This record gives sequence, C-alpha cells and structure tokens, in this order.
Amino acid sequence: MRQSLVLPAVSLLSLLPTALTTTSAKRGLVYVPPENHPDDDNIWDSSTSDLTWYYNYNYAATPSLSKSKLEFVPMLWGASTADTGTPFLDAVKAQIKSGTNVSYVLGFNEPDGTSATGGSGIAADVAANAWIKQIEPLKKLGVKLGAPATTGSPDGFTWLQDFFNFCDGGCNPDIMPVHWYGNFEGMASHIGQKMAAYPNMKIWVTEYGYPNQDLETTQLFYNQSSEYFDRVANITRYSYFGGFRSSVSNVGPNVAMLTQDGKLTDIGSWYLGGAATHNKPKGAAGRVTIFAGWSVVVAAAGLWTLL
Ligand SMILES: *[C@@H]1O[C@H](CO)[C@@H](O)[C@H](O)[C@H]1NC(C)=O
Ligand SMILES: *[C@@H]1O[C@H](CO)[C@@H](O)[C@H](O)[C@H]1NC(C)=O
Ligand SMILES: *[C@@H]1O[C@H](CO)[C@@H](O)[C@H](O)[C@H]1NC(C)=O
Repeated sequence: MRQSLVLPAVSLLSLLPTALTTTSAKRGLVYVPPENHPDDDNIWDSSTSDLTWYYNYNYAATPSLSKSKLEFVPMLWGASTADTGTPFLDAVKAQIKSGTNVSYVLGFNEPDGTSATGGSGIAADVAANAWIKQIEPLKKLGVKLGAPATTGSPDGFTWLQDFFNFCDGGCNPDIMPVHWYGNFEGMASHIGQKMAAYPNMKIWVTEYGYPNQDLETTQLFYNQSSEYFDRVANITRYSYFGGFRSSVSNVGPNVAMLTQDGKLTDIGSWYLGGAATHNKPKGAAGRVTIFAGWSVVVAAAGLWTLL
C-alpha cells in the first residue's frame, strides 16, 4: 500500500521541474568570509551551482575562488580625504593587463550609512573626487561602472543627488545598485523609484533580504523576489545576502543559505538552481540578532577589505 502510493508521487514530481527549481544567469554571490569553515566556499562554486558572478567588497578576488567559474566584480568599498594615489584603479588595470576579463566594477558600499551598520560613511564630495580619480577612468577601458550602492533609506536618494552634483558630469555609471532589507512590496517600490530617477542605468540588486522573519515569510519573500528579478529585463543582476551559516547570521537565521552545519537550506538550494533540501536553519543559542541591518557581517568584511 505504502509503496504503491510512493511511486506515483515521485513520478508526478518529476513532471514538474520548472515549478520546483528555477535557474537564472543573473544570480551572483555576496561573498562573506566564513568564520571557521573555509570549506563552505566550495559550495558556491560547485558543479551544480548556478551562480555566475560574485563580489567581496574588495579590489582583489577571493583566493579560494580565484580559479572558480564565477566572474569576479571588484569594488572600491570606501574613500577618505586621507587617501593617496590610485590603488583601486591600479589594481583593476593590473588585472586587465594580466588577462582577466573585468567587465564591471562597483563603487562604494553604503556611503550614506555609518560604520555601525556596515556603511562606508563617505561625504558626497569626497566620494565624487574619488570616483573621478579611481573609477571613471575605467570606462575608457570598456569596463561598466556600478554607481555608489546607497542604503534602502530615503536619504540614499539625497546622497546620490549630492554626489552627482559634485561630480558635475564627471561620474557616468552604467548600473544603479540597490540594497534592501525589508518586505517585498517595499523593495519593489524602492526599485521602481530608482528606475524612475536613473532611467538610463541597469539595476543590480547587490544586497537584499527580509531579516528576522519566520521561515515561511522568509521563503515567500525569496520566491517573490527571484520571480520579479528574473522577469524584469532592466534588473540585470542580483545577489542575495545570505551566503553564510544561519548560526552566524546577523539578519536572523532564516535568511541564511547554509544551516548551522553548513548544509544548503531550501533558499540556498533554490538560489543555486536546485530543489528544496528541507534542511532547517537554526540560530546560535544565545546569539542576539537585533536588526542592525547587515552590520556585523559586512562591517567585518569591510574591515578586512581595508587591511
Ligand atoms: C567577459 O565577461 C562578460 C560578462 O560576464 C561576458 O559578457 C564576455 O563575453 C566576457 N568576454 C570574454 C572575452 O570572455
Ligand atoms: C530599460 O533601460 C533602458 C536603458 O538602459 C531604458 O531606455 C528603458 O526605458 C528601460 N525600460 C524600462 C521599462 O524601464
Ligand atoms: C517557494 O517556492 C518553492 C518552489 O521553488 C515552493 O516549493 C515553496 O512552497 C514556495 N514557498 C512559498 C512560501 O511560497
């Protein structure tokens, strides 16, 4: 009795692959260094992974991914008035010279946000000067440029306006990044606003997630987001902020693509183009995950960038 029930169920499932898995060449990885589990890096570049690109908030590729099939996108994370020389520009030029296909770079991580939430906290004029010196020259080499990635706060729009005013025509990005931590409706509306404000740029959603929700709400957000990103032609790339174990997540355990044991969660597997794993993410006992955004994890990545 049991066996005869199981067989039809399995064959029915195999008739519905498109409903159960989706793949998309738009998907990339926000690389966050794994705290004590370097082998976790292999998951993103496995033969079954559908991911095509990554960034790590840094100029240089991540050593463990340097031979991977994932395209590396360099980022100039921050800027200050004390900066001398053009280390970012020099590093990217050297990569191109050595034969690396650098098609895109990203400029400035959350310049309108403070270091407490992982932002680079750059004044718009300082950012404009650094852009003109270190990023704009890459355009002549055929590299496409990602505008400063402001937070999802309305202040981000003001910061961008100030930035472009200071640039006075000298900053010409091709891509407008979006960061979002909140519900799907809020994100879609924020993306609509960015598209309307910058109609000549493609959108990359370079950090997104719905922090501190129950598993079903988190998965529904994930499903709605990927369906939307895959459908809208001018959203050309996206990278989910969840490339870490649930036990170290600072955006709540359910967001994570890996369980506390380093196994793919449903979201992790779906994002890589696979089927549900039914592995349930758990937080670390005693770890307090107050939503401070992406703060702890990204601040760590940012500091590491500056070393
Ligand atoms: C370089 O990478 C871009 C983006 O992934 C791709 O479209 C292009 O074909 C690549 N060019 C070469 C020469 O591999
Ligand atoms: C898509 O982007 C192009 C510029 O890259 C723009 O001309 C076009 O209006 C955009 N389409 C929509 C639907 O926003
Ligand atoms: C999300 O999509 C998967 C299929 O990819 C489906 O199995 C699951 O039920 C969906 N979850 C929600 C909450 O919509």
